[in-house]
Amino acid sequence: MNNDKWRQKLHLEPQKGWLNDPNGLCYFKGKYHVFFQYSPDSPLGEGRKCWGHYESPDLLNWEFTGTVLYPDTPYDKDGVFSGSAICTDDTMHLFYTGNVMEDGDHDYVTSGRGANVLHVTTKDGKVMSGKKLVLENKDYPSYCSCHVRDPKIYSEQGKYKMVLGARTLEDKGCVMIYSSDDLENWVFEEKITTENFGFMWECPDLFEISGRKFLSLSPQGVPHHKVIFQNVYSSGYFKFSEDSLGRYTEWDCGFDWYAPQTFETPDGRRIIIGWMGIGDIPYSNPTVALGWQHCLTLPREVRVNEHGTLSQLPCTEINSLREDEIIIADGSCEKFKLPFDLTAEVSGKYEIIIDKDIVLHYENGLFELKFLGMVGFGRDIRYAEMDNCNDIRIIADTSSLEIYLDKGRKVLSTRFYPDSKEVSVLVRGLSAQIYPMRAMNITLRDE
Ligand code: FRU
Repeated sequence: MNNDKWRQKLHLEPQKGWLNDPNGLCYFKGKYHVFFQYSPDSPLGEGRKCWGHYESPDLLNWEFTGTVLYPDTPYDKDGVFSGSAICTDDTMHLFYTGNVMEDGDHDYVTSGRGANVLHVTTKDGKVMSGKKLVLENKDYPSYCSCHVRDPKIYSEQGKYKMVLGARTLEDKGCVMIYSSDDLENWVFEEKITTENFGFMWECPDLFEISGRKFLSLSPQGVPHHKVIFQNVYSSGYFKFSEDSLGRYTEWDCGFDWYAPQTFETPDGRRIIIGWMGIGDIPYSNPTVALGWQHCLTLPREVRVNEHGTLSQLPCTEINSLREDEIIIADGSCEKFKLPFDLTAEVSGKYEIIIDKDIVLHYENGLFELKFLGMVGFGRDIRYAEMDNCNDIRIIADTSSLEIYLDKGRKVLSTRFYPDSKEVSVLVRGLSAQIYPMRAMNITLRDE
């Protein structure tokens, strides 16, 4: 089989093995740094859980610099799990969960699992200092199970803060906030939770946009409904109102999205990157047979919209990859080389059919993404409820679609696996501009 089949042109992937959550996102000394959960030994995510590292001067030219954190101490021997970065003048500080599975007869929920917060520093994202233990199970409140993880560090009112995801002994998801003056000594401040919202909250992230505060998280155990919480696990954000959690909105209604993280660019944009994948899925990814699995989403700019929710659009840098536009008229079907960027103004009912078998349909306030044949490898249907949809944008890469509705008020991300690098696009109820796109310059490296 052609080993390049389905290699993405605009999305970060592992050269081999498995990728999951984005970690340690930051801009430091003139470069963007994207670390990620990396299992170099297996496309199924087995074996060592490490951090891989990409860097870029401009979000368009990327270099994979290798595996930079391995599970090589007693405090992280069973996995360098997710975490984040905070940068001081000349140092990047990384915090992550060191996962430890103890020998013995354990359920690994109430006993047998060490959930250590470790701190490392680096001057370049590649060469790491020694690992320092800053929090361990005994430092967490007594209502916690041993599922505590994914530290995200931020600063607030002159202090450093850490938000950690957790599962209580009563199987309720929550986050815990710690604070510190020096990034070394951490003091518990408070627990934040809400009633009946899953048993575990993974990958929390607390940030402000336009003076409003949001808590992003990936909760597990939220009951499924037809048009919301459609995936095995959810991922969304709460808006804070008066320091308590307000409404929860899902980040992405597609098949492949989980565990996102945000960071701020030097020019003040809040960027989110998600894992374009999710665990424990009933569908599959045929790249496993080629030796790798999963990718990250595009970096997306997040803004507060007029509904008070968060809209996401591909970071503006992506537009520079567009080539000359081609117009596709209402009712016509044409073939396009991947990757491309499709944009259209819409009103009322419309339909776009990609590669004959992927149907995007909007009518009466409901958007549907439906796979008819094998191209979705088990993916079937996802919905996004929208009273009103004025535009659609689709970034189609070699094996993924990111669908942005109404200036990114709703987004759906999915993998798909076409037979060819050219796909048909049929439009009904709209005419669209299609921009063929140049590939990003992504340098992979086999270690
Ligand atoms: C989310 C997650 C995190 C954990 C990491 C391990 O996908 O389960 O909670 O730190 O993956 O790879």
